[in-house]
Amino acid sequence: MELPQRELAVLEAASADEPTTVADLASAIGEKPETVTGAAFALEERGLATVSESASEAVGLTEEGERYRERGLPEVRLYRAAVAAGADDAPVPMGEVLGGADLEGPEVDVALSNYARKGYGAIDAGALSADSDADPDRDAEADALDAVAAGGAAELDPAVRDSLERRGLCSVQERTVRSVRVTDAGTDALAAGVSATEAVGQLTPEMLATGEWRDVEFADYNVAADAETVDGGKTHVLRATAERVKDVLVGMGFEEMAGPHVDAEFWINDALFMPQDHPARTHWDQFALAAPSEIEALPADLLERVEAAHREGVGPDGEGYHSPWTESVARGVDLRGHTTSLSMRYLSGEAVGELDPPQRYFSVEKVYRNDTLDATHLLEFFQIEGWVMAEDLSVRDLMGTFTEFYSQFGIHDVRFKPHYNPYTEPSFELFGTHPRTGEVIEIGNSGLFRPEVLEPLGVDCDVMAWGLALERLLMLTHGFEDIRDVHGTLADIDFLRETEVVY
Ligand code: PHE
Repeated sequence: MELPQRELAVLEAASADEPTTVADLASAIGEKPETVTGAAFALEERGLATVSESASEAVGLTEEGERYRERGLPEVRLYRAAVAAGADDAPVPMGEVLGGADLEGPEVDVALSNYARKGYGAIDAGALSADSDADPDRDAEADALDAVAAGGAAELDPAVRDSLERRGLCSVQERTVRSVRVTDAGTDALAAGVSATEAVGQLTPEMLATGEWRDVEFADYNVAADAETVDGGKTHVLRATAERVKDVLVGMGFEEMAGPHVDAEFWINDALFMPQDHPARTHWDQFALAAPSEIEALPADLLERVEAAHREGVGPDGEGYHSPWTESVARGVDLRGHTTSLSMRYLSGEAVGELDPPQRYFSVEKVYRNDTLDATHLLEFFQIEGWVMAEDLSVRDLMGTFTEFYSQFGIHDVRFKPHYNPYTEPSFELFGTHPRTGEVIEIGNSGLFRPEVLEPLGVDCDVMAWGLALERLLMLTHGFEDIRDVHGTLADIDFLRETEVVY
C-alpha cells in the first residue's frame, strides 16, 4: 500500500492499543498539530485509524495570580502583619497593621475583602483582629495557585478553583483534544508494508514552469483540520456601541452635530446661563487650557445678549445674577466638560444657520472632566447629547423620547428623578438598573432649556435636551461593573475581542 508521507508518519507513530493525542503525535513526528489532524482525518477516511474528540480545559494563572503566588496572597500577608502587630491578642487599628503589611494599591482592598471570608479574623470599627487558630501556611487558595502553576489544576477542589476564577487569579480555556488510534485494518496494512508517496502540499511557480505539476500527487485539502486562532483588528465595543446609538437616533429622525473639543467658555458655560462664579466652572470640574488662551470670533451680538441675560435676566420678571461677568472669562478656553456646547452652537444659528422648528439634533462625542478616577468615573467619556426643538414640548415628550431610545437597547425600566441644572427647568436625572448587581445607576441628565438660555440664542419655541453617558449605557447592556474594564490598562483583551454589539 502507498500513503502520503505524512499520513504514513502518523500511522506509524500512533498506536492500536490506546489513543494518542494530536499534540503528542505532532511532537513525535515533528509536524504542526494542524498537519497531523489533517493526516489523521485522511487515515480515518481510509479506515486505517479512528479519530476521537474530547473536551479539555487549560487552566492557567493570570498575571495577578502569578504575582500572588510569588509574593503571597494579600489576605495572607495581612494576617501575618496583623499577628506581628499583636492582633491575635487584641484588635489593632487598621492603619497600624496596613503599615506593616507591605500591600500595594489595590492589594489593600483585595486583602480586606478576603480576610474575614477566609477566617483570618474580623474587621470591626476600623480595627483588625486576627484569629490565632488560622494557619496562613495552609491556605487552600495559596496551595491551589501552586497546583495550577505546576499543571495540577485537574485535581483541585472545585470550590477552591471557583474562587480563584472568581477572583481573577486563574483563567480557564476550553479546548477540543483529538486523539488517534490505529484500527485493525491499519495494523494489517502496516504489517503488510506501506510506502510513502511524494504528496505535494503546495503548487509552486517552478512546478508550473517545468510542467512537473502534471506528475505529482497533491495532498487533499482538509477543511476540518484545527487551525491557529487569528485575532484580527476589530472595532472597540465602545465605538461599536456609539455607532449603534447614532443609528438609533438617526432612525428616530435626528441629525448629527459636530464641533470642537476645545472650546470657548462662552459656548460651554455662558450661553447656558451658568454664572461666571458658578462652582462647576472652577478648575475642579473642567480642564482649562493655557494655549490658545483665547478663542477668536465670538458673535458680538450674541455675546451682548448673553451678557444681558446674566446681568439683568430675561423677560418682564427677569432677574439676572448681578454677579461679575466679563468677556475675558467668556473667551477663556477649556476642554469641553459637556457637549451641550455643541447644542448652543447649533441652537444659536452659529453652526448651520438659523433653525426653524421642528428640529432634532444629536452627537455622540467625547467630553472631559477633572473627576477622580474610580469604577464609574473617567476623566474623559462619551456623552450622547441631544435636543428637540418644537412649538409645544412637555415632560411627557422628554420621557417618551428616552423610553423609546432605551427600549431599542432592551432597557425598559428607565426611571426619572427631579433634578437641578442651571440651564434647564424642569430637569430630570435618568436612572437604570444594573443587570448584575441590581444597583440603580445614573445614566443621564435632561431638561427643558430655560428662557434665559433660549431667548439670547434667538429661539422662541421649546427645546428639550439631554446628556446621556455612553459608558453607562454599555454597563446596562453588557453588565460590566467597572468602566475601566472597557478603557485603559485594566481592560481585558479577551473581553474586547469577544464582546459583540448586537443589532
Ligand atoms: N450638560 C448636562 C450634563 O453634562 C446634560 C444636559 C444637557 C442636561 C442638556 C440638560 C440639558 O450632565
